[in-house]
Amino acid sequence: MADQAQRDGAHLRNLWYFALAGARLRRGRMAARVLLGEPVLLARDARGQPFALRNICPHRGIPLTHGRFDGQEVECGYHGWRFNGEGRCTAIPSLTDDQPLDVSKIKVRRYPCREVQGNIWVFFGDEGGDPGDPPIVPDIGDAAPRLVETQLFDCEIDHAVVGLMDPAHGPFVHAAWWWRTRRSMHEKAKAFAPAPLGFRMVRHKPSSNSAGYKILGGEITTEISFRLPGVRIEHIRAGRHVLCNLTAVTPTGEGKTEVNHAIYWTQPWLTPFTPVFRRFAKTFLGQDRAMVTKQQEGLRYNPNLMLINDADTQAKWYYRLKKEWQRCQSEGGDFVNPVKETVLRWRS
Ligand code: FES
Ligand SMILES: [Fe+2]
Repeated sequence: MADQAQRDGAHLRNLWYFALAGARLRRGRMAARVLLGEPVLLARDARGQPFALRNICPHRGIPLTHGRFDGQEVECGYHGWRFNGEGRCTAIPSLTDDQPLDVSKIKVRRYPCREVQGNIWVFFGDEGGDPGDPPIVPDIGDAAPRLVETQLFDCEIDHAVVGLMDPAHGPFVHAAWWWRTRRSMHEKAKAFAPAPLGFRMVRHKPSSNSAGYKILGGEITTEISFRLPGVRIEHIRAGRHVLCNLTAVTPTGEGKTEVNHAIYWTQPWLTPFTPVFRRFAKTFLGQDRAMVTKQQEGLRYNPNLMLINDADTQAKWYYRLKKEWQRCQSEGGDFVNPVKETVLRWRS
């Protein structure tokens, strides 16, 4: 029944990670980030296209974000070397006319970078690897999120992910009259199936104790999917409309993990309630964050941890998926999804 949680905090490679809400990067601007322990420069050029470079000048190592960006090229603040969005050097001001250095041979690492449905994703992988597509939220077209709530969690990625998929903490951590209370706890049975790089909770009617769904109106069904490295998409169908929550977990550096929660909806009448949704998202994520911070007090002593059936089965799958991805990366061969179709039962 009980399982040792095999947390290793390892950062999976060759996957897309949520880097920044697109609305937070204006044209002609750049931003310095640390993602997966690597310094990353994110910029949006004058045409609106985002790109990502290693934020280290190959000359003397200064972060390039300390320099300038003209909407096309980044100029290092130290000696003015210039780099284009491909990471290729285009100019070294100190060179005299008769010094034949081919500057285009000097490169800064460029990361594949895509803006999808209003969010900027960066691919961390082997150079030349095929990045494929970042995760896509179904049925909302190209629309940008109505809001994105971002919080920095004081933990390694695994605890943030496991907390995200944990069905048993709701009545304790998120207790609220309009959502869950201890008295509303009852037994649940949910069907699960494998999904690309993860699994999904098969479409169903939401729990009768989720009063919060009722304001959406219409016939309501939800499907929740999870995929590596830590992306959860909750897809709520309400009549002919959809409301979707995208939660993406990205390790930054030194035991910190950023959690981005983006909300999309197609119901025009919900738009005046954006501040209310923002407030809820902040409160919800803040409750998870506060719990993870308290958890760190205990984890400092490196205790053994448990994963029990069925409430922690999704967490077990997460560790198995992670292991299989690592195996696949080191040995090659196809990724074999370890999740099998099943029904999980718990009380919450
Ligand atoms: S350190 Fe960047 S140009 Fe010299
Ligand atoms: Fe939570």
